[in-house]
Amino acid sequence: MNSAKNAPKPAKLISNLGLKHRNSFGLDSTAELAYEITSAEQLPDLLKELKDKKLAWRALGGGSNVILPESLPGATLLINILGQELIKSDDSNTWFSVGAGVNWHELVSWTLEQNLPGLENLALIPGTVGAAPIQNIGAYGVEIGEYIDSIEAFDSAAHALVTLPQEACQFAYRDSYFKQNPNRFIVTKVIFKIPKAWQARLQYADLAKQFSESNSNPNAKQIFDAVCAIRSKKLPDPAVIGNAGSFFQNPIVNKDQHDLLIQQFPDLVSYPDGPEKRKLAAGWLIDQCGFKGKRIGPVGVYEKQALVLVNHGGGTSTDILGLAKNIQEEVLSKFGVQLEIEPNIL
Ligand code: EPU
Repeated sequence: MNSAKNAPKPAKLISNLGLKHRNSFGLDSTAELAYEITSAEQLPDLLKELKDKKLAWRALGGGSNVILPESLPGATLLINILGQELIKSDDSNTWFSVGAGVNWHELVSWTLEQNLPGLENLALIPGTVGAAPIQNIGAYGVEIGEYIDSIEAFDSAAHALVTLPQEACQFAYRDSYFKQNPNRFIVTKVIFKIPKAWQARLQYADLAKQFSESNSNPNAKQIFDAVCAIRSKKLPDPAVIGNAGSFFQNPIVNKDQHDLLIQQFPDLVSYPDGPEKRKLAAGWLIDQCGFKGKRIGPVGVYEKQALVLVNHGGGTSTDILGLAKNIQEEVLSKFGVQLEIEPNIL
């Protein structure tokens, strides 16, 4: 009988934990019961206990894509499962697994050190590896979903640790099966599959511009450095000004609506999204409504990028959501387009 010996150490509990430094918006928020999760095996027993006690729960990764209320009742699970290891490699691909609590940008740096290029366009995105597949993080023409082999997670519906192959994850623009089923899965590990045949992905205008004359054949490290430089110039550093990156998704409209809009607004910024749809630059729509750099109390719209809402200090979720509503109404009234909020509202 050695089951007790093999049982995982129970998750550490901290009562009334302040989360101000655990969310990139810097919102004041207190978690009634915070559990630090360091191993997937802790989850079945803990979730059973929470269910028996009828306590609400939610998982928190790096806190870079959430809007936290002032108080979080019930249990907040701080996912701090670490570790990364190479699994195998064949002629075409390399597989490696990464704990959900690993910092995303540090993972991208590690892949380059291991000579596994592919994720460099996703450099400097804040947050953790476990949160990345939920909204299928993407930047500069690359989305994480295409490099995922499978995901290990706790499935609260089945009350079991499960493995979802890539096809089951239903990755789409800032979307996945996990996002479609909120509060069902807790991602514990991500298994990546990186093709050995590497090609620079430079179709995104900002990036192409950097390399057009000086060096038209950059390596992955040079792309990584360029992405870091572009992001640092355009996006506020959460350590300096609280923010959650893009606050709205770029809205997708049908081609007819797009064609009518472009007649009225010839400078409209849009990209094809399949034959029948067009993706509009939400930053441009918001900018046109005069919001860039605007401040309402403690919160505002970033002065260099209208798609990013910022907390200048002391803002609450009510302030942020009030400003967001204001923006949504103006954009709807001027362009007839509904903006969807991108971060998770807890
Ligand atoms: N624009 C304006 N005014 C603004 C902001 C943007 O006119 O204030 C115009 C720009 O001129 C540009 C266009 O809108 O032509 C698009 O802007 P940008 O290139 O900055 O990209 P984005 O659509 O705002 C998206 C992602 C970012 C990602 C970048 C680069 C979404 C919601 N956002 O931003 O992702 O880094 O492309 O690939 O898809 C995030 O999700 O948190 C994020 C930062």
